[in-house]
Amino acid sequence: MVAGGESYGAIRDGVVVVRAGRIEWLGPEVDAPAELVADPATSVDGAGGWVTPGLIDCHTHLVFGGDRAHEFEMRLQGATYEEIARAGGGILWTVKATRAASEDGLLAAAGPRLLALMAHGVTTVEIKSGYGLDLESELRMLRTARRLADEYSVRVSTTLLAAHALPPEFDQDRVGYLDLVCNEMIPRAAEEDLADAVDAFCEGIAFTSEECARVFDAGARHGLAIRLHADQLSDLGGAALASAHAARSADHLEYTSEAGVRAMAAAGVTAVVLPGAFYFLRETQAPPIEAFRANGVPIAVATDLNPGSSPVGSPLIAMNLACVLFRLTPEEALAGMTRNAAPVLGLQGELGTLEVGRRADLAVWGIGHPAELAYWVGSNPCSAVVQGGLLRGGGAG
Ligand code: NIG
Ligand code: FE
Repeated sequence: MVAGGESYGAIRDGVVVVRAGRIEWLGPEVDAPAELVADPATSVDGAGGWVTPGLIDCHTHLVFGGDRAHEFEMRLQGATYEEIARAGGGILWTVKATRAASEDGLLAAAGPRLLALMAHGVTTVEIKSGYGLDLESELRMLRTARRLADEYSVRVSTTLLAAHALPPEFDQDRVGYLDLVCNEMIPRAAEEDLADAVDAFCEGIAFTSEECARVFDAGARHGLAIRLHADQLSDLGGAALASAHAARSADHLEYTSEAGVRAMAAAGVTAVVLPGAFYFLRETQAPPIEAFRANGVPIAVATDLNPGSSPVGSPLIAMNLACVLFRLTPEEALAGMTRNAAPVLGLQGELGTLEVGRRADLAVWGIGHPAELAYWVGSNPCSAVVQGGLLRGGGAG
């Protein structure tokens, strides 16, 4: 996936040599230095398939209580996502279930969802809070996310999304809730190293751009990276707001204007597209992919795995949806889950491409061509995963 060369940065009949968790050498097998060719006991045979960087799912909400299958039924009978949210369902429904859950309960519920991503080649996953909306519940979600990293030996990047919805107890006091977010939640999450980034939902049913800006200023003061749920259901200028705050990414972007795209290009903000939410909410306006390309805005793709708008547990399905619904090429979709997803988590130079010195997170696939990763729907050609130089579930490394 190194840019600029052959399509997909492909190396044919290749070998990847891994030592101490990093890529030590890679290239065509015929060129491999003899002293580096490993003993078969510590090798993984790709069997004529393909090896890619481990997939990076850079936008998920995979820690939550309960589910929202009943809202799926309501929406199919005609209710809209926004109507359900304004009637106290939506995000607030999941907040109730998440507040009622213990840390162990959240961990147990999230485990199978994480394992499903991992089985499809994911080696790094971002996990947001945002279903707690009080100090203890938000920190509990983030602690759960950190524990998932240890329990499942997978890389997890965490994001505080306390500005996801206004909790019912602050119904009449928006400023009071933002005080709590900025003066208590952000400092505590940063102090206890529970969050790597801060995110907000800039939308009519959530927070205004001024309110999001307050959250960003507090996050930046505490050394957190900035992200934004921007322009998903309407254009509130989210892309420009994220750009003005030097965000790593603006995410969703269905309603982003040309001016917003140009602001992102100037500020070096990555566009994270979330076709699972577009699909599941039956959205009709796609993000301005052509404008991202024309302005050189890097495009990442993620599952947005969450109970309300994107119950999508497969990165490959997200890639397929990005191609079919947003017309990304299969190569762009794979770059969106590898090379272009790494900088969204501040991991450029470490992950996202196969190059000497990068961390050895690799996925092995039983496919004849890399376009197949975005092509098959619902099958899983992932045959092995190497995480930090170790074969998952095996001894080689
Ligand atoms: O990324 N857009 C806001 N947040 C989530 C949905 C959360 C939910 O409905 O539970 C999203 O789509
Ligand atoms: Fe999201």
